[in-house]
Amino acid sequence: MKKVLIAGGTGLVGTHLSQLLNDKGYEVVHLSRKKNPKATYPTFVWDTEKGTIEAAALQGVEYVINLAGTGIADGLWTTSRKKLLIDSRVKGADLLAKAIKNLAQKPKAYLSAAAIGIYGDRGDEVLTEKSAIGKGGFMVQCCEEWEDAIEAVATTTGIRTVAFRIGIVLSTKGGALQKMLLPLNFFTASYFGTGEQWYSWIHIDDVCQFFLKAMEEEQMEGVYNSTTPNPLTNKDLTKRMVKALGKRALVIPAPTAALRLGMGEMADVVLNSNKVLPKRLEEHGVSFQFPTFEEAVKDIVERGV
Ligand SMILES: NC(=O)c1ccc[n+]([C@@H]2O[C@H](COP(=O)([O-])OP(=O)(O)OC[C@H]3O[C@@H](n4cnc5c(N)ncnc54)[C@H](OP(=O)(O)O)[C@@H]3O)[C@@H](O)[C@H]2O)c1
Repeated sequence: MKKVLIAGGTGLVGTHLSQLLNDKGYEVVHLSRKKNPKATYPTFVWDTEKGTIEAAALQGVEYVINLAGTGIADGLWTTSRKKLLIDSRVKGADLLAKAIKNLAQKPKAYLSAAAIGIYGDRGDEVLTEKSAIGKGGFMVQCCEEWEDAIEAVATTTGIRTVAFRIGIVLSTKGGALQKMLLPLNFFTASYFGTGEQWYSWIHIDDVCQFFLKAMEEEQMEGVYNSTTPNPLTNKDLTKRMVKALGKRALVIPAPTAALRLGMGEMADVVLNSNKVLPKRLEEHGVSFQFPTFEEAVKDIVERGV
């Protein structure tokens, strides 16, 4: 049985991906900050701050998937929080690179999450993997340092490395959609600022199927945008969500000034515009299980995934 080590496997994407890989016959093991006696998968412990990792974690592992990192929108971006957001990603990648380098039998590939935040706030510009990365803003800085660390895994270890610049992952279990669904219980839905900013989204099943594809297809290497080919403006997406779910709701704006007041710099997460296309995935000939937003939202809510 082929063994996969998933760092951050307990999170939103990690839990779903672990199930998919388990269903496909892979042996899944997790790398986590703590042991949980009730964990579904065997778990090894690491400490990215101290630079420690359980020696047996990488034993017999064919694929390493790194999804670890402090939640981008889980707390205000204070100086210490910003450091944690970067360190939890960069130090994790560095630690894995060092551990892999020392192995007699190295894994076949290292796959990592990255994020479309690397493009920065780009208005209506169509963004592909060939587009320049953004200029300025913490999201760009964090994502750039993150990708530098992923690239360093490739140079340090010599193994095939893939980085998915993931868009807004649709799920009822966490992330942006879960937060957007809550106000519907009170017959309201909000868009942010002008609502004209582009959101590039993806169904959680598709995010996970592309990780699996990148494990199995050796010609996949480097950076891939992991979004559907159908980005929507924030206002359009909000209206479509309400309609797709057959809800009645007043769609109202959350003004930029109020968002800046409440969230500070972190409001970039909802106000930045990223019209991203999955050019390299399409060139690779992938098909999306959920290319249209309405289908994706309905499926997510119906299945409760
Ligand atoms: N969800 C999205 O919409 C989205 C979009 C773009 C990019 N991404 C990126 O994709 C990855 C997975 O996303 P997700 O939504 O599954 O994230 P998540 O639910 O927040 O899970 C991330 C995992 O990272 C680990 N972690 C948290 N803080 C850490 C720290 N300080 N040091 C080391 N590990 C830490 C945790 O695992 P343990 O508690 O087991 O250690 C956690 O379960 C993340 O890097 C995220 O930034 C997600």
